[in-house]
Amino acid sequence: MQAPCFPNAGYRVLLCVSGGIAAYKSAELVRRLRDAGADVQVAMTEAAQRFVGPQTFQALSHHPVRVSLWDAQAEAAMGHLELAGWAQQVVVAPATANTLAKLAHGLADDLVSTLCLATEAPLAVAPAMNHRMWKHPATQANIATLLARGARLIGPNDGPLAEGESGPGRMAEPAQIVAALGAKV
Ligand SMILES: Cc1cc2nc3c(=O)[nH]c(=O)nc-3n(C[C@H](O)[C@H](O)[C@H](O)COP(=O)(O)O)c2cc1C
Repeated sequence: MQAPCFPNAGYRVLLCVSGGIAAYKSAELVRRLRDAGADVQVAMTEAAQRFVGPQTFQALSHHPVRVSLWDAQAEAAMGHLELAGWAQQVVVAPATANTLAKLAHGLADDLVSTLCLATEAPLAVAPAMNHRMWKHPATQANIATLLARGARLIGPNDGPLAEGESGPGRMAEPAQIVAALGAKV
């Protein structure tokens, strides 16, 4: 595994967490990104909060976690456009089939999709889903669109999936994601 090398200490990474089982792995991803010298802020979709609480990410990132476009207090502290501009790198992990579809089509109907549309930072996605969802032509077309637009695809890995099946769809391991982001710069 290549050692991560961010371009500067405090490299500003915006981690967007969408609603899949693998969201629990993103808690470790925050730790590993910080260990590699990154400053990490986290935004979550509504569905992501059903898997992991924002407080977990808040404690690990040392920043308030953004969960809604419509939180007046959070907007006053750092507006979503400011947060989109703050990021030097955006990584969506886990990236659900739904969120990938939104990003491919330029939707902006929640905080995460709006941030991804509003940022000029490079986008990396770490998909995680059932292998049939991953292989579905709709998902593959969305991935192709994102890749054509310059997004970086990290994973998914092949192996046992949460629901007991096996196949491509496991989210890349946190160390793999950090190394992939570090290798990029
Ligand atoms: C228990 C459970 C696990 C799920 N795991 C995944 C998953 O790993 N990947 C995925 O794409 N969707 C998964 N879903 C479906 C998403 O949560 C659902 O499509 C949701 O609308 C995604 O919203 P978001 O993309 O805004 O986070 C799961 C749903 C449930 C109930």
